[in-house]
Amino acid sequence: MKSSELFDVAGLSTVVTAGASGIGLACAEAMAANGADVTIFDIDGAGLAAAVERLKAGGGAVRGEVVDVRDKAALDAAMAEVVARGGGLDVLFANAGISGGPGFRTTDLSWPEATAFENLPTELWDRVLSFNIGSMVKTIQAALPHMKRARAGSIIATSSCSATKTELFVGSAYVASKAAVAHLVRQLAIEAAHYNVRVNAIAPGPIVTNIGGGRLKDPAAQAHFGKYHPMGRMGRPDDLMGAALLLASPAGRHMCGAEILVDGGFTLGTLN
Ligand SMILES: NC(=O)c1ccc[n+]([C@@H]2O[C@H](COP(=O)([O-])OP(=O)(O)OC[C@H]3O[C@@H](n4cnc5c(N)ncnc54)[C@H](O)[C@@H]3O)[C@@H](O)[C@H]2O)c1
Repeated sequence: MKSSELFDVAGLSTVVTAGASGIGLACAEAMAANGADVTIFDIDGAGLAAAVERLKAGGGAVRGEVVDVRDKAALDAAMAEVVARGGGLDVLFANAGISGGPGFRTTDLSWPEATAFENLPTELWDRVLSFNIGSMVKTIQAALPHMKRARAGSIIATSSCSATKTELFVGSAYVASKAAVAHLVRQLAIEAAHYNVRVNAIAPGPIVTNIGGGRLKDPAAQAHFGKYHPMGRMGRPDDLMGAALLLASPAGRHMCGAEILVDGGFTLGTLN
């Protein structure tokens, strides 16, 4: 089988949540550039318009919908609208997630009292868990009935390498929320497989995006995190494109409940 057939995503009706920036935008771009029919859901109207314009300029069939992934009714309506346009719903990138604040140690390896676990604000814990796992649940619930009805579909959740790897510099709420996402994917994969719907995850390592107010865009942060990557650098959003196409296309047809780690070796725990 030719790679052009194996990785063919042309015409696939695809939704990407939080696709106006970073990893979601790269997944949307990988799909659109290869002929998929992509709808991006994002809360940031201006960012969404810019993303759609950019991907259209690359020749993609792309639309944007302002959708807040915390709002189940809005997700239901937007997902139904995608289906009503006639192409069904073949692929969902359930990608939205927020940062959970700093970890218990700083990058200079000090131990500030303010970030000690007992001082983690309940409001922060609730907000991160509710967004990262709660919105993931709502997003998948809005898409799954359409895929079950069609007896076909691929759901790709963005988890994180921090779902399994311990983290000094990343907050506990984020780590716990991503572990919940990773295990939900495995549990849901069994149920959805009965309807020929595949559920898998992409687990990125640290990727330079706008997450956490763009703190990873700081060259000092990149130099710091780069040291922990055997590949010698942090990831870029486009490093995720290969995994996205694999899970969305016929090449991933027997992948069910898998978590693809794309982390430049970060999780191996070595210091170059
Ligand atoms: N960047 C990393 O190092 C990294 C590593 C592992 C996993 N992840 C995960 O990747 C996913 C994407 O993160 P990113 O780094 O690309 O972030 P990003 O900040 O670059 O993009 C996030 C997007 O989410 C949108 N958004 C925010 N709130 C929203 C809401 N309520 N409804 C809809 N859209 C909303 C923003 O407008 C933005 O376009 C997240 O789940 C994140 O946890 C990121």
